[in-house]
Amino acid sequence: MSEFKASALAPSNIAFTKYWGRSNAALTLPLNDSISMSLDKLQTHTTVEFSEKFKKDEVHIGDSENPVRNVEGSKRERVIAQLERLRVLAHNSMHAKVVSKNSFPTGVGIASSASAFAALTLAASNALNLHFSPKELSIQTRLAGSGSATRSIFGGFVKWKKSTHSNGSFAMQLENESHWQLQDMVVLVSAQEKKHSSLEGHGAASTSSYLGSRIKELKARNAIVVQAIRDKDIEALGVEIEKDMYSLHCMAMTSAPPILYWQPATVAILHTVTQLRSQGIKAYSTMDAGPNVHIIFEKNSNTETALRNAMQPIPGIQKIIVDGVGKGARVVDNHLF
Ligand code: DP6
Repeated sequence: MSEFKASALAPSNIAFTKYWGRSNAALTLPLNDSISMSLDKLQTHTTVEFSEKFKKDEVHIGDSENPVRNVEGSKRERVIAQLERLRVLAHNSMHAKVVSKNSFPTGVGIASSASAFAALTLAASNALNLHFSPKELSIQTRLAGSGSATRSIFGGFVKWKKSTHSNGSFAMQLENESHWQLQDMVVLVSAQEKKHSSLEGHGAASTSSYLGSRIKELKARNAIVVQAIRDKDIEALGVEIEKDMYSLHCMAMTSAPPILYWQPATVAILHTVTQLRSQGIKAYSTMDAGPNVHIIFEKNSNTETALRNAMQPIPGIQKIIVDGVGKGARVVDNHLF
């Protein structure tokens, strides 16, 4: 009997222009194009096996600090919904065992769903002998409901296109991982699970009166970001990613009900990065739907040291992780069980 088992690795990513709000929630169709950088060391490794010997689907998740363990509840349900979608496409009804491990501590505020759903979709589709093209794989990953995971299929610098049709909304690579050595310094302010999920934020986006202006601005902003990546122009990129982060948080703060993700340490970090720029340090802030700040800069040990020294006295910082630009989702030989 042939083996229905495969493993995959997929990167986390940080968005330069953010996905915020959906035109179709069931199909995870975004209101705007978004652009991100895939990360290198922050990734998820997932093994999926389908077999007659399994009596039910099992989902085991672990991370760099916690061994894999069987999970129940909504995390398991989301994984199973994606397996189910792929089983239907493969005309296969076997149960599966999924074992997934993040290379970073989960629950410290680094989003794991992007890398997790990209790795799950690639491993499960290969185990089922569904050989999707990268574009099709990004669409299938999007359908799992984590929009940012759509971008984690590709390495380097990635754009996820909006569309009102499922087949028209997919990710594509703008430049590969060796194009530009950018760094993401993730400054963790809170280790708490976020009070407001991204899903809640997407749902509330249309209640902000700023939604229309954000969508309008984004067209020009995305064009500048694409060009800045192509030209490796950190200043042009940095100005736009900060504007986009403030625009997203402005929308969150003016939604009904309003969502304020920032903590006192968040504001202190944002001010510090601005101050460092006046001293000639080219570093720029971005944030997802949470209180942590990602500082983007060109790889340079002096810049990294200056940033670390400037962060050190800020009360409330829990941890700093620095990562570079990484490869996209890929099938690997080593199975987790
Ligand atoms: C602010 O719905 O992809 O990070 O909760 O991680 O599945 P998960 O988030 P998702 O929304 C991401 C929102 C964002 C911006 C972005 O990554 O584009």
